[in-house]
Amino acid sequence: MTDEKFLDQKMDRREFLKKSGIGGAGLALGLSGASAFFANQDRSSKKALDGDEDISFFGKHQAGITTPMQKACYLVVLDLHTTDKKEVIQLFKDWTDYSSKLVEGELVKKDGSNALLPPMDTGETVGLNPYRLSLTFGVSADFLKKLGLESKRPKLFRDLPPFPKEQLQDKYTGGDIVIQACADDEQVAFHAVRNLIRKGRNKITMKWSKSGFAAIGDRKETPRNLFGFKDGTANVTKEKEFDKVVWADSKDWMKGGSYMALRLVQMHLETWDRTSLQEQENTFGRYKESGAPFGKKDEFDEVDLSKLPVDSHVRLAKEVNLPILRRSYSYSDGIDERTGQFDAGLIFIAYQKDPDRFVKIQTNLGAVDKMNEYITHIGSGLFACFAGVEKGGYLGQALFE
Ligand code: HEM
Repeated sequence: MTDEKFLDQKMDRREFLKKSGIGGAGLALGLSGASAFFANQDRSSKKALDGDEDISFFGKHQAGITTPMQKACYLVVLDLHTTDKKEVIQLFKDWTDYSSKLVEGELVKKDGSNALLPPMDTGETVGLNPYRLSLTFGVSADFLKKLGLESKRPKLFRDLPPFPKEQLQDKYTGGDIVIQACADDEQVAFHAVRNLIRKGRNKITMKWSKSGFAAIGDRKETPRNLFGFKDGTANVTKEKEFDKVVWADSKDWMKGGSYMALRLVQMHLETWDRTSLQEQENTFGRYKESGAPFGKKDEFDEVDLSKLPVDSHVRLAKEVNLPILRRSYSYSDGIDERTGQFDAGLIFIAYQKDPDRFVKIQTNLGAVDKMNEYITHIGSGLFACFAGVEKGGYLGQALFE
């Protein structure tokens, strides 16, 4: 590609961002209302609205957890095929190196002069900005077992118990490593995962993956899920709250990390679409259009539990009184062969300092949640997502040392 063409392409994309309201215009309109997915966002900075503000790979915590949600998420769960700790450390070092470049929009590695070799980087993001790419890594209890690191398993990192009504499929359950790649461009997210996996090919295989989307729009409103309801309203948004809710404060290798509860939840859209608006709203205890809790006017008004149906999702989730940070993405994956209906739903991702928070909420939702009529949990995973990487260090270092 000539330099001129390359530049043109870049300009077009910036133009597009502006037109779609992600650019400066969004700022001019003003951003009132503490939209949940804006978590941790400095709203006064123009860069925050450009879609290309810097998200460093390095820092106290991994990005992609409290980072304001991006439009696309490519999530992959991997199986590990080596028990050699040294090999895994090398893999995590390589992933650290690659990730730090990927989030800057650079090639994972420059090519040498030998045109007879495959290119080092697969190339599909050349000319793109990083689109706020974040890469978040976590490992499961099985991972620790495979590497003989069970003695390092934190006490609170217990297996998830079985939950009522779940219909977990083996192909979407378990696994050793999770990579969550989020970006405002699908291809950027996919490219990152593709190149990371390519680097680890002889040590890992892919167990399952899903490509998710979130209706971030002009980033002024809480995104809606496929039931048409605002999803993320009750999330914590401030640094101090993250310390209370999200970041593990244990003294072990998980200090500064977070536990990811992952659920693949199929949503039965056809059934939902035959349901009256009143029933839909009763399912959550929130009004569909405004997102306000029953008895209130605005989305962020305080919830009065006594006004919500006893079996409503929000009442059951909130009465546990253990906040978590939800960062879920919708998926739509063609047609379910068994039913001929949409294969669509939610890649439910929640981060919390202690997995027991998720367990207690999911247990309370249990068989009672009115939403159960419209969903089926088909996949599950629990991953310990390391603390952030300091410059010069590598992913998971504190675990391996
Ligand atoms: C397809 C699956 C799901 C859908 C469509 C869904 C949808 C929603 C919606 C619309 C809200 C209200 C707005 C908000 O605060 O975000 C909500 C709240 C919430 N959901 Fe879910 N949810 C799903 C699964 C889950 C699961 C598996 C959990 C398990 C822990 C969960 C936990 C919560 C919590 C903690 C709240 C906030 C309650 C509060 O404090 O007000 N959700 N969900």
